[in-house]
Amino acid sequence: MRKLDTRTIVVASHNAGKIAEIADLIGPFGFSAKSAKDLAFVEPDETGTTFEENAAIKALASAKASGLPALSDDSGLVIDALDGAPGVYTANWAEREDGTRDFPWAMEKVEKALAERGATGPAQRTARFVSVLCLAWPDGHTEFFRGEIEGVIASAPRGTAGFGYDPIFQPEGHARTFGEMTADEKHGWKPGDPEALSHRARAFKRFVETCLEA
Ligand code: IMP
Repeated sequence: MRKLDTRTIVVASHNAGKIAEIADLIGPFGFSAKSAKDLAFVEPDETGTTFEENAAIKALASAKASGLPALSDDSGLVIDALDGAPGVYTANWAEREDGTRDFPWAMEKVEKALAERGATGPAQRTARFVSVLCLAWPDGHTEFFRGEIEGVIASAPRGTAGFGYDPIFQPEGHARTFGEMTADEKHGWKPGDPEALSHRARAFKRFVETCLEA
């Protein structure tokens, strides 16, 4: 395990929602971080078939382009009744022909696919959000941190907070969707807390324990 001995890193993402969450999570640790979007780095093609492969592609591209350690996130929604779809293709499900992303439309697609399989009750609509963070150094070294949160796909989107598929994901043990939570509630974690809620905060907590703490 390699420790991170600098607080200057690149957040290897072009996704505004993820960049905001990662900025929030790293905030208390005194990082100076620019995103791949701020630095106008070319977004690499995500040609992998696993979250780990795609996370490595993004982190290594930013680490090599900047000469700094880079932290990426590859994430997605894994729905049991859809045999794990959309999974690593979660972003693709939202992609229109002109390349723009349309999440209300993607959430309708999810609902349609569930209805086709007769998955109408919560017991048939179990799912998890997965986040794999990759920390890559310019010399090619990588470390991975995975976080998952179990939940159900809500019967209709609820809430306008967050990003992406947040309005349809209701984490286990909670009455509200991620779309109905503040960012702090969705993370469910601050430094020192024993547990985190969101997939990304769970992965981030592992990153802190592995690479930041003595
Ligand atoms: P990628 O990791 O860039 O390939 O894409 C991840 C996809 O999953 C995007 O479409 C995101 O909108 C979606 N996603 C990942 N994490 C979250 C989350 O915390 N809330 C809502 N959608 C998410």
